[in-house]
Formats: sequence, C-alpha cells, structure tokens
Amino acid sequence: MLTEPPEGCNANGMSLLKTGRIERVRVPLGNRSYDIVIGDNLLKDAAGFLQPLGLGRRCVVISDTNVAPLYGEMLCESLRSAGFEVSLLTVHAGEASKSLRQASRLLEKLPGLRLDRQSVVVALGGGVVGDLAGFVAATYLRGINFIQIPTSLLALVDSSVGGKTGVNLPQGKNLVGAFYQPRLVIADMATLKTLPKRELRSGFAEVIKYGAISDAAFFRWLERDYRRVLRLEGAAIRKAVRRCCELKAQVVSADEHESGLRAILNFGHTVGHAMEALVEYEGLLHGEAVAVGMCCAACLSVKRAGLKRADAVRLRALVKASGLPTQLGNRFAAAAMLEAMRLDKKARAGKVRFVLLKRLGATVLSDQVTDADVEEVLHVCR
Ligand SMILES: NC(=O)c1ccc[n+]([C@@H]2O[C@H](COP(=O)([O-])OP(=O)(O)OC[C@H]3O[C@@H](n4cnc5c(N)ncnc54)[C@H](O)[C@@H]3O)[C@@H](O)[C@H]2O)c1
Ligand SMILES: [Zn+2]
Repeated sequence: MLTEPPEGCNANGMSLLKTGRIERVRVPLGNRSYDIVIGDNLLKDAAGFLQPLGLGRRCVVISDTNVAPLYGEMLCESLRSAGFEVSLLTVHAGEASKSLRQASRLLEKLPGLRLDRQSVVVALGGGVVGDLAGFVAATYLRGINFIQIPTSLLALVDSSVGGKTGVNLPQGKNLVGAFYQPRLVIADMATLKTLPKRELRSGFAEVIKYGAISDAAFFRWLERDYRRVLRLEGAAIRKAVRRCCELKAQVVSADEHESGLRAILNFGHTVGHAMEALVEYEGLLHGEAVAVGMCCAACLSVKRAGLKRADAVRLRALVKASGLPTQLGNRFAAAAMLEAMRLDKKARAGKVRFVLLKRLGATVLSDQVTDADVEEVLHVCR
C-alpha cells in the first residue's frame, strides 16, 4: 500500500483544493460512493488524487491510439513519481475496440503484469476506452480497483459516471457488460482542447439533454452561454460538466441498475439509437443521432405529454445553434426506424417506451406513443 497524504493534497503535500481550481461531485452509493474531481490540468497531479484511496502499487493505464500519445506519458509519469508501478496498454481508437476479443487480449496481459486484487486499472480516453477498461476491471479477479479519466465531452458528462461498463457483440451494442463503479473519476478539462470539434459538439448533445430532462435553469443558462461552453472557456465548460455530473449522480444514486428513474437519461435515444443502428454506426456520431432524437421526442412531447410548442422550438433552436443536426434527412425510412426501435434492447416485449417532456426540466415515461404518432413526427422532422 502507498502512504496516504491528506485528502485533496498532491504527492508533494500541496493543497489543490485551496487554489479553488478543483471541484468535487460526490456520487452517493453507500460503501461504493465515489468522487468526481473536476478541474484543469489535473493529469500531472493524478497520483495525488489516487493516494487517499489506499490502492495497491501496481497499475495499468488503458488508453487508445489517439489519446495515449497526447496524455499517456504525463499520466504515467505522475503515477510513477508517486511510487506506482505503471504499464500503459493502448488499443486502436474507435468503437471496434469495444469487443470481447479486445477485452480478452487486455485481460490476458494482466497476470503477466502481476496485477492482484489491490491493483488498479485506469481508463484514459473517451467512452470506448472507459467502457472497455471498466469491463476489464470488473471481470479480472472478479473485480479490481477502477479509475476513470474521461477525455471526451461525452465521457466526462455521461459514460464515466454511473458504473455501466461493457463491450459490443456482432449482434448489437453493449450486449455484454457489468455494473461496476469506479473508485474515482478525474475530470480534467484541459484534455478537451485536443478533442476534435465534431466530437465536442456530439458530447454537447448530452449536455443539452440534462438541461431538457431535469434542470430548466441549466437549460436557460445553456441557451445563453452555449458558445462559451463550446469555446471551452474555463468557467463555462467546468460549470457545464459539473452540473451534468451532479444530475447524473442524482439519477444513478436513486436507480443504480436502471430499474426506473435512470431511464430518463434515454431522452432522445429511442430515435437516436434507431438511426445509429440503421447506418450501422458509420458516419453518424452518437450525439448527432441523439440531437435529432431529442427534436423528434420534443415533437412527440407536444402531442402526448403537454409540452408547450414554444419549448419544443427552444430545444430545437439550441440543438441547431450548437451546430448539431435537428432533422433526420431522407435516408431514414419511417418503417425501418420503427422496426429498429422495436429491436432496441431498451424496448420491452417489442413495445417502445418514450421518454417525453412535460415541460423543460421534467419528464414522463410513456408507452402510449403509437406507430402513427412516430410516423407523423418522423415525417415532420425530415
Ligand atoms: N457507460 C455508459 O454509461 C455510456 C454512456 C454513453 C456512451 N457510452 C459509450 O461511449 C462510447 C462513445 O464514447 P465517445 O464519444 O467518447 O467515443 P470515443 O471513445 O470513440 O472517443 C471519440 C474519439 O475522440 C478521441 N478522443 C477522445 N478524447 C480525446 C482527446 N482529449 N483528444 C483527442 N482525441 C480524443 C478518441 O480517440 C476517438 O477517436 C460508445 O461506445 C458508447 O456506447 C457509454
Ligand atoms: Zn447517449
């Protein structure tokens, strides 16, 4: 075990909290509770955040071919200087790495690196790396310590928090996995500077989603300040990430295993997932599909959940202003979309459930939406 400096201090004992640059969001889950540490340039001090957790000294950092060359060394150096024995394992960037084959390749390396129950797996990257490394951490020796260091906006606000880990099967996405919570999430805003802008906008769709489903004031703030967030202005991007993490933490701690409330996070995803499935995940980013999906869900909400038309217009306007698509386009036929929605693993017995908005900031789950409603909305949103 490593010696523990006081909480909030880095390896040199310097207080990071006092500088005011660091914020913490707690994810309350009993004895599996953990913190999300949010700040700028945190990677070089990463070891300082790990030390209070009392982890073993062997550590494997899993990253991808885009992120490892940018941040891998900085992170490994920080960990080594604090006494960790670190190995960096890199997978190809892209969704194809979220496979059982890749998970098994990684798992088979761990015994040779002498990882034991106290050792640590660190995910450094976007949602692909987080889901894959989390699955490896959850299954090796029936579960070893796991740390998330998300570097894409989507991973920062969504996939790194909540404990869903897993890989894809040829038959579909995320069909194998485990609920497995990290011990800590380190959210370093500085890593976003190298994220491609299209990926940034895609992640921003999920940010809009949080405002739409659970916080009208946050939504209003986004309408005013979305440009500052997308320009990565320090205070604005931190506020956006912090608020999304707080909202996700609330939902996850109320419903860790998605038996109820957690479903609200799927707002915009029923149509979005169907679009992704129809293009076989090629050429369309997740957030882009969700952006269109939210616009469609807002139309359905006007029809079936009493959302004011003016509020649906506001949602669409924010999606559009942030450079995200609002319309399906002609390649998505209504019949094929309906079929894909029924096949989605979130459908129950072939019945599609929609998350609708009663108003901005408040949702209702509905299985009253008819095929005719969906066809009409898909037509309007074309
Ligand atoms: N576990 C969950 O709760 C959850 C939630 C939502 C999504 N997901 C999963 O997350 C995945 C999508 O995540 P994503 O959008 O982050 O995709 P990703 O991990 O593929 O990252 C997107 C691209 O950006 C690159 N990248 C990431 N950070 C970078 C940085 N700082 N600088 C430069 N390049 C960088 C990556 O290499 C990749 O090419 C999907 O597999 C999805 O199923 C999981
Ligand atoms: Zn999503």
